This record gives sequence, C-alpha cells and structure tokens, in this order.
Amino acid sequence: MKILVTGGLGYIGSHVVLSLVNNGYKVIIIDNLSNCGVSVLSKLEKLINSKLIFEKLDLSIKNQVKLFFEKYSNINGIIHFAALKSVGESVINPLKYFDNNLNSMLNIIEYMPKETPFVFSSSCTVYGTVNKQPITESTPHGIAESPYGKTKQLCEKIMEKEFHGINNFKALSLRYFNPVGAHSSGLIGENPKNIPENLIPYLTQVVIGKRDVLTIYGDDYDTKDGTCIRDYIHIMDLAEAHIKSLEYLFRIKDKNYIDYLNIGTGIGVSVLELIQTFEKATGMKVNYIIGKRRPGDIEKAYAETKKAKKIIGWESKYSLSSALNSAWNWEKKSLD
Ligand code: WQD
Repeated sequence: MKILVTGGLGYIGSHVVLSLVNNGYKVIIIDNLSNCGVSVLSKLEKLINSKLIFEKLDLSIKNQVKLFFEKYSNINGIIHFAALKSVGESVINPLKYFDNNLNSMLNIIEYMPKETPFVFSSSCTVYGTVNKQPITESTPHGIAESPYGKTKQLCEKIMEKEFHGINNFKALSLRYFNPVGAHSSGLIGENPKNIPENLIPYLTQVVIGKRDVLTIYGDDYDTKDGTCIRDYIHIMDLAEAHIKSLEYLFRIKDKNYIDYLNIGTGIGVSVLELIQTFEKATGMKVNYIIGKRRPGDIEKAYAETKKAKKIIGWESKYSLSSALNSAWNWEKKSLD
C-alpha cells in the first residue's frame, strides 16, 4: 500500500512517515521545504534503513499537483499536512496563508485519484474559544483566533463540500490539540526556524541555554493556578492516530464518508503544571518569569476523546512526562 504524505518532512509529517513505514506501508513524501530542511529526509532514511521517495513541490501551484498525480497514479491513501502553521505569522501575512493553505487543499482534492482515503491535519483551533470543556467534536466552528485557524476551518468546509459533491470522497479530519515531544531516537523533532512560538520548544531552548528565560504569558486566567490550560499530546500518539484513521477508511464500505476526530489526551494541563512536570521528569530547572497575556490565547482547551476511541479504536498512551523527556532529549541531541 502506497501512502502520499504531504508536508512529510515537517514535525508531525516526519513522525507519521516513520509510523507508516514501521507499519509496513510504502510512502511518497511531498514537501516544499519552506519550514524544514531536506536533512530530515536523510534522518528518516537512517531510521528506517532504506530510501524514501521524495518530491519537492509546491502544492499551491496547480500544474505541479497535476503533473505529480500523472506521475504517481497508484496511491492508496493520502495524509495531508502541508500547510503554513504559524499563528503569529498568519496574523501578519493572512493572504499568504489563505493562498498557500487553501490552494494546496483545492489542488489536491481536484487531482487526487477519486475515492482515495484522505486524512487531513486539522486543529483544535477550529473551535475558537469554547466555554464548555472538554471540547467535543459536535462543537461547531467558533471564531478562529487567527487566519491560520481560519484556513483550517475553510479546509474542513472544502472537504465537506467535496463529500456532498458528486465524487466519492472518504475522509477523516483530525483536530490536534497540542503536539509535543519527539521520536525516542532524538533524530527528528520540532525544529522551529526562528524564535519558537510554541511553549515546549521555547522551554527546552531556555533550559539548554539557547535563550535566557521563558515568559509565561499571563497568570491571571480563571484557572487552578492562573495559567492557561492545554491538552499536550505526545507526537508518537498523534502519529499512531493517523495510521488508525487510514486503516479505518480502508475498512469502511461507504464510498462517501467524512468525520471529524479530536486527537488529544483528554487531560487539561496548566503552563505551570507543565513546567513542574518537565522539571520532575528531567531533573532540570526552568528559568521563567510571569509576563503579560499573549493576544489571541484562549484560557482553556482540552479534548473530549471518546469519539476517536469509538470510531478508529485509538487513544493516547504516553504520559506527559515521557513526552517532555523526549522533547528534552531532542533538544540535547540538536547540539550534536
Ligand atoms: C501553549 C500555552 C501559551 C509560549 C498551538 C498552535 C495551534 C495548535 C495548538 C496546531 C499557551 C503558553 C507559550 C511561551 C507561554 N496547533 N506559552 N510562553 O497557542 O495552544 O496553540 O498548538 O494546529 O495552532 O498555535 O500553543 O505552545 O503556543 O502555547 O506561556 O513562550 O503556553 O500562552 O497558554 P497554543 P503554544
């Protein structure tokens, strides 16, 4: 079985490529290398001890997508990660995000072989701010906190239209909560190109000495210790959810199918709790200060996870401690 992984050299994509190969699948990777280096390819090949098919192309350019699917006709499944994903950058340059993320989705849908099982990399950001926690999949799209979040909502709408259209379309949209950690080898992981926006890479860069201090964005929220609550899921659990999703789509008889699944642990963790868990797991001290709230941050977001368990038989297995240990291991290995 040959699986196309778009954005397959990115943080999440590369971990899913590894899981696919370890589950016996052949993989074709597309990446435009806008947010990662081609060195990730050689690390993946080292981990799997064989070569991978890689095509550098820009999915937002129609003709490149058309030629790709003419070249590779025997694809049995598609996992679509390729997208710009910086919340902050999307606020500064929204049109770049709408152009890239939406045209990539539209071009794939247009040229992919019909009836190919399709797994989409969505996000809990589609919910916006939700008062009732944990968040269930029946929660409608909220006000997206950024143009990035809006593109995830619109991509889900595009898939829904395709589902209701004339073509047969079988898809699962996976709404990730907060992916953290790295493969145990420390060879692949979250590798932000500039100053990390996300908590964990910033935290590990402070601990290793690349940055001075971690700023906690606000401790005056209406939570147990005043800091925001999130649902941090180990990247290896997240990768497994993609395998389970594909295999579910391979099994079902429906020619037309679409559904949405939360991929999280179901456990809400505050920023301060995360720091304490990191210090306990690694024995390292995190140097932090309390700063002002970050605009756009929501107070609480953690997943109701029953549906993923019921539909695809998946639930998270790794602890937050092991996820944070793997993130620390990745940071230390990046010095090698
Ligand atoms: C987590 C918490 C911050 C940095 C991200 C993506 C979003 C989606 C989910 C993909 C928040 C706090 C952070 C720092 C801090 N992923 N924080 N100091 O904002 O929940 O969302 O993951 O689709 O698109 O943006 O993640 O890691 O930025 O923040 O205090 O230096 O850590 O306030 O409470 P977020 P994050």
